[in-house]
Amino acid sequence: MRVAVLNGVNLDVVGRRDPELYGGLTQSELETLIYKWAKELGLTVECRQTNHEGAYIEWCHDALDWASGVVLNPAAWSHYSYAIRDAVELFRVPVVEVHLSNIDGREEWRRHSVIAELATRRIIGKGPDGYREALEFLKETA
Ligand code: DQA
Repeated sequence: MRVAVLNGVNLDVVGRRDPELYGGLTQSELETLIYKWAKELGLTVECRQTNHEGAYIEWCHDALDWASGVVLNPAAWSHYSYAIRDAVELFRVPVVEVHLSNIDGREEWRRHSVIAELATRRIIGKGPDGYREALEFLKETA
């Protein structure tokens, strides 16, 4: 099973952001863990991160052709990008929305995700372990 893990804006600097909220790992440490978990589960994963909304959308389009499961953390775009929502709507495979922090317990504007209703599963506020849970879920549904 091939899984696309698509991380969005500002997650390249996640290691500099509030560790209480985001877990304190750098992007590279987070990706290393995701690849390790994937290997343990027998999944082939490709992790990507961008700060450019158009690139994120193009990676969604690209993943349409090869991914049999998708893990999305569009970061701040989750709260307002209808363009990303329209791209996510094209997936015909399970989509897991992951957020490191508990967006439901933070500022009002973070509580709404425009992709929530498209997600097969949402994993919120579990820090880096949320990605492991997402991979486990995809493995189970495969
Ligand atoms: C985030 C939550 C978003 O509200 C925020 O803008 C992020 C990261 C998370 O993983 O907790 O950049 O998606």
